[in-house]
Amino acid sequence: MFLGIDLGTSSVKLIAVDENGHILGESVRDYPIYYPELNYAEQNPEDWWSATKEALKEIVDKIDVEVDEIESIGLSGQMHGLVILDENDNVLRPALLWCDQRTKEECDEITEHFGKDKLRDLTANKALTGFTAPKILWVKKNEPEIFNKINKIMLPKDYINYKLTGNFSTDVSDASGMLLVDVKNRTWSKEVLDFLNIKEEMLPKLYESSDSVGNLKDDLKKEIGITSDIVVAAGAGDQAAGAVGTGVVEEGTISVALGTSGVVFAAHDKFAVDDEARVHSFCHANNKYHSMGVMLSAASCLKWWVEEVNKNISFDELLKEASEIEPGSNGLIFLPYLMGERTPYPDPDARGCFIGLTITHTRAHMTRAILEGVSFGLRDSLEILKELGVPIKEVRVSGGGAKSDLWRQILADIFDCNINTINTNQGPALGGAILGCVATGKYDTVEQVCNKLIKVTNTIKPIKENVKQYNKTYEIYHELYSTLKNTFN
Ligand code: XUL
Repeated sequence: MFLGIDLGTSSVKLIAVDENGHILGESVRDYPIYYPELNYAEQNPEDWWSATKEALKEIVDKIDVEVDEIESIGLSGQMHGLVILDENDNVLRPALLWCDQRTKEECDEITEHFGKDKLRDLTANKALTGFTAPKILWVKKNEPEIFNKINKIMLPKDYINYKLTGNFSTDVSDASGMLLVDVKNRTWSKEVLDFLNIKEEMLPKLYESSDSVGNLKDDLKKEIGITSDIVVAAGAGDQAAGAVGTGVVEEGTISVALGTSGVVFAAHDKFAVDDEARVHSFCHANNKYHSMGVMLSAASCLKWWVEEVNKNISFDELLKEASEIEPGSNGLIFLPYLMGERTPYPDPDARGCFIGLTITHTRAHMTRAILEGVSFGLRDSLEILKELGVPIKEVRVSGGGAKSDLWRQILADIFDCNINTINTNQGPALGGAILGCVATGKYDTVEQVCNKLIKVTNTIKPIKENVKQYNKTYEIYHELYSTLKNTFN
């Protein structure tokens, strides 16, 4: 039995899985997110740890299997967050999260220092507000007394792995999103570290995601009531782990994640980078590479619409109404930039809008326009991948939004391709469990386990007439950001 832990933005989720992919137990614990100022987003690493520990105890109690049958633990984690510890391993300040947008100036400073091309050659990416390096620079400039006390820098899931094993580790997929890694060579970039005044000892040791980084510490085993050894894998960033958990590990397979953020993810056999670094080029969790476009608000747009604007109506009711509206929402277009945007517009000031409202539009048109707007945003990333010559043989969709038949059909129509769903919706948690399973040495590759456990169960095909309609609307959508950009500041 293998445990998968998904350290997300709103909660931590644990699953226990057997070798045939059966889910034997699940436990979830929420934790708060703080927005101390506009564009700031923070969490307390101690909250992640106490929630994880509680969930770990709960799942061990819940599962109807001998606890000593647990062989490994593998983590998936929200990416990019900055966790800093002092020399006594105390957390120095709340973590700055992936969705924190305060570092526009620091991104400009990094880009000016290296130049866009050199930065891309060093890190395979560009400086984006979500990434970790600009967050470190922000602390250095704004909180020098804290910066001077930094002894260890790590990512969210690495804090949990540190607590679980005592080993200061990270994995190449998650570390790729720090802007501190030479992605092609899977090592730290000395030049970027020097610019930020960071010594390599302050950073964790880099592992491949399915490597073992140690065993669960004895005191924890005692506390939980386990006697056998449990291997802990290095784990992966949530997108790479999610791709493993949906079987997106071979070139030509694309994953679309409709979660809080929206992601179009392509697995590559070899390193590849866009000259303009429009999509992220990261290490994948299967010793290979991947590229991806990330929208900051995807299913969260629908969540906002339901929870903040239409409080008395259920998701299902709103989606049912929207399914009765013709594709194109009668000319109404929604821009999904509720928290700024990353791909294809790295702009923390971008804002959400409804464009083209008339007196004939209803709530149902607005709901449908939201689903369509997010799907157009994802198409922006897909178009870049196509332009870069990424082969697209299969698209798999996952995440909360993928539960909606309507949204999956809209995606098939807007992407003009088949959209597959698979036999599991455990995504990143299952990915974590698979990495842990490989870390035990029972299997040689991540692909072997994915091929064994993950199967396509359903395919939605595009409807020709809708494709035509959406191609027209997409042309308009695609122009809107540049037209409105100056009104966002
Ligand atoms: C990926 C990204 C998000 C976060 C939160 O680049 O920013 O997926 O990891 O889920």
